Amino acid sequence: MNTDLHGGYQLMKEIVSLVREADLEQCEIMIFPSFIHLKTFDNTINGSGIVLGAQNCHFAPSGAYTGEISLEMLKSIPVKYVLIGHSERRQYFAETNESVAQKTKAAVEQEVHAIVCVGETLEERQSEKHFEVVGLQVRTALEGLSAQELQSIVIAYEPVWAIGTGLTASADQAQEMHAYIRGLVQESHGSPAAEAIRILYGGSVKPANATELFSQADIDGGLIGGASLKAEDFLGIIRA
Ligand code: PGA
Repeated sequence: MNTDLHGGYQLMKEIVSLVREADLEQCEIMIFPSFIHLKTFDNTINGSGIVLGAQNCHFAPSGAYTGEISLEMLKSIPVKYVLIGHSERRQYFAETNESVAQKTKAAVEQEVHAIVCVGETLEERQSEKHFEVVGLQVRTALEGLSAQELQSIVIAYEPVWAIGTGLTASADQAQEMHAYIRGLVQESHGSPAAEAIRILYGGSVKPANATELFSQADIDGGLIGGASLKAEDFLGIIRA
C-alpha cells in the first residue's frame, strides 16, 4: 500500500525507462501495484515487456461482496497475474490456507496466473515448525489441481520474519526451503511439474543479496517489496 496515483505513475515511468535501456530478455518482469494503478500502468508498460499483476482478488466472479475485486474485473484491464495469500493478507485480513486454496482454484479457472505466497513466522521457525507450516500451506493450495493446471502457478516463499524487516533468510535457509517445496510438488504432481514450477524467494531482497539468492539451484526469481519502490534498486535486482 504505497504511492498515490501521481507517485505510482512517476515510479512506473522510471522503471519502464530503465528496463527499456537494459537488455533483460531472459527475465520476466512483473509489477503488482495497488488496484488504483492497474489501468494507468497497463498503458505505461506498453511495449516494455513488463507484465501486470494484482495484489489480491476475490474468488467469486461477481456479486454482493462490497469492496472486493474479482478475477473477471482484473482480466478486463487486462491483468495476467495475481498474488494470493501474501503473508500480510494472512496476518491482517484473516486469510487462511482454505481461502488461499479457494482463490487459487478460481484463478486457475479464470486463467489468471496465481502467485501463491507461503512462509513461516519467526516463532514457527524458532520452534522448528517451519517445514510443517509451509508444507501445509503448499499442499492445501495445490490440492485438487492437475499437473497441467499447475503450469499456471508460481509459488513464492517468503519467511514472514524477513518481509520488510531488513532481515533476509540466508541463501542456505532459502535454498533448503525451496528444495523442500519442490520436493512436495514432486510428490503430489510428479517430476516434470516439480522441475517446471517457478519458486520465487521474497523477504528483504536487495541488489546486494540478490545474486547470491538467485544463484541457488531452487530459487527461480524474487518477489520484491520495499526495494521495488526505488527504480534503481529494482533494476539492480532484475539484473541479478
Ligand atoms: P520486502 O517485501 O522485499 O520489503 O521484504 C516483500 C514482500 O512484501 O513480499
